[in-house]
Amino acid sequence: MEWIFSLNEIQDTALSFWEKIKGKRVVAFHGPVGAGKTTFIHALCDVKKVKGTVGSPTFSLINEYVFDDNGKEQKIYHIDLYRLKNESEAFDAGIEDSLYSNHICFLEWPEKAPSLFPEDTLHVFIEAVNAERRRLIIKYK
Ligand SMILES: Nc1ncnc2c1ncn2[C@@H]1O[C@H](COP(=O)(O)OP(=O)(O)O)[C@@H](O)[C@H]1O
Ligand SMILES: [Mg+2]
Repeated sequence: MEWIFSLNEIQDTALSFWEKIKGKRVVAFHGPVGAGKTTFIHALCDVKKVKGTVGSPTFSLINEYVFDDNGKEQKIYHIDLYRLKNESEAFDAGIEDSLYSNHICFLEWPEKAPSLFPEDTLHVFIEAVNAERRRLIIKYK
């Protein structure tokens, strides 16, 4: 599955992505700096109309959002491992608690702690096609 989208199309892409990942909990976003990982995760949160500000988790590692899912409160963890020095730091920060909770987790820089991820993690890849467009790919096994 693949999407190519500009910022104008990001909300539609986010909606379509949510449809495709139904039933998945942990989604790892691979891609270089500037690819659009944070922007896309924010768009995914916007679609669900999360409560509170959707900020960058750069300084806190884990950002937590809640949204109303047909009367049921659901959580989204947005985790950015960019600043992680090693996997034991991830353990100390409580990353595993989020990864193995029953909540949705979107992660940037999964390469920083590969052994932490549940087996059923969905790995997706994002890259710049040019200055205005990004390509997002889900590679199924
Ligand atoms: N789909 C897109 N189309 C065009 N530009 C985008 C898109 N997604 C993100 N950008 C731009 O790319 C830059 C980097 O995005 P960001 O989400 O911070 O990347 P990352 O988290 O992968 O480092 C931002 O200036 C953002 O506006
Ligand atoms: Mg980012």
